[in-house]
Amino acid sequence: MSDQIKSRERVADHGEVFTAEREVNAMLDLVKQETERVDSRFLEPACGEGNFLEEILRRKLTAAKKRATPPRRKKPVPSEFEKQSVIAVASIYGVDLLNDNVIACQKRLYEIWNTEYEAVCQNEVDERCREAIKFILDRNIVCGNALTLKVVDENGKDTDEPIVFSEWSFITGANLQRKDYRFDKLLAGEYEPTAKEKPRDPKTNDQRNLFDLTEEEPSDEGEFLMSYVADYRRIQSHGE
Ligand SMILES: C[S@@+](CC[C@H](N)C(=O)[O-])C[C@H]1O[C@@H](n2cnc3c(N)ncnc32)[C@H](O)[C@@H]1O
Repeated sequence: MSDQIKSRERVADHGEVFTAEREVNAMLDLVKQETERVDSRFLEPACGEGNFLEEILRRKLTAAKKRATPPRRKKPVPSEFEKQSVIAVASIYGVDLLNDNVIACQKRLYEIWNTEYEAVCQNEVDERCREAIKFILDRNIVCGNALTLKVVDENGKDTDEPIVFSEWSFITGANLQRKDYRFDKLLAGEYEPTAKEKPRDPKTNDQRNLFDLTEEEPSDEGEFLMSYVADYRRIQSHGE
């Protein structure tokens, strides 16, 4: 079998044919600017082992290094790169029906992040940050059915549990906020205000995103699930 196909059965049962690097790059180049922004959000609803997500993360980490490098300096500041790299990972989402693909994808993204982390931060690496990244990947790369929007069991069968995604954002200093949303409600547009209704952020004058509005008006029907705040290196010890 090739790098793109694991078995004939998997192709027949799940349409599992992985995309080659050349096509991945060509497709991502169609949205090049977004792939080179540390905090742009990407969701791949049938992510496989993460061929697209890997390249997105690589591009974002390059952008994170640039962002963490002060003017007239050649190297990124390790503490700043650490935070920027957390944003890079936390803005990447994936869903796949098959548990082995999800685990492979999480592992692959972790290894890519960790290699850059060690290269940039060297003796300043922090085990708590590694654990936080594993936790974020565990929440962002979900074993689920992108058609029914349900979490699936180890056999790829739907459970009753809806897929939930977390939005991660730095608020003050090292504090990272996690807000959980049901994927079905997000897709149904129930969180999304029309462009006309969207308020502008006074600081940036940008129209605020769908998550921002929900923060102001959390639903009383339970679609907006929960919000947690913690130092980003300890985000995994909150709210579970
Ligand atoms: C054609 S492969 C593409 C994988 C990856 N996007 C890539 O380009 O390398 C399709 C993937 O979709 C997954 N898949 C099939 N049906 C799905 C569903 N209903 N929900 C989520 N994933 C699904 C398969 O397990 C497989 O990994």
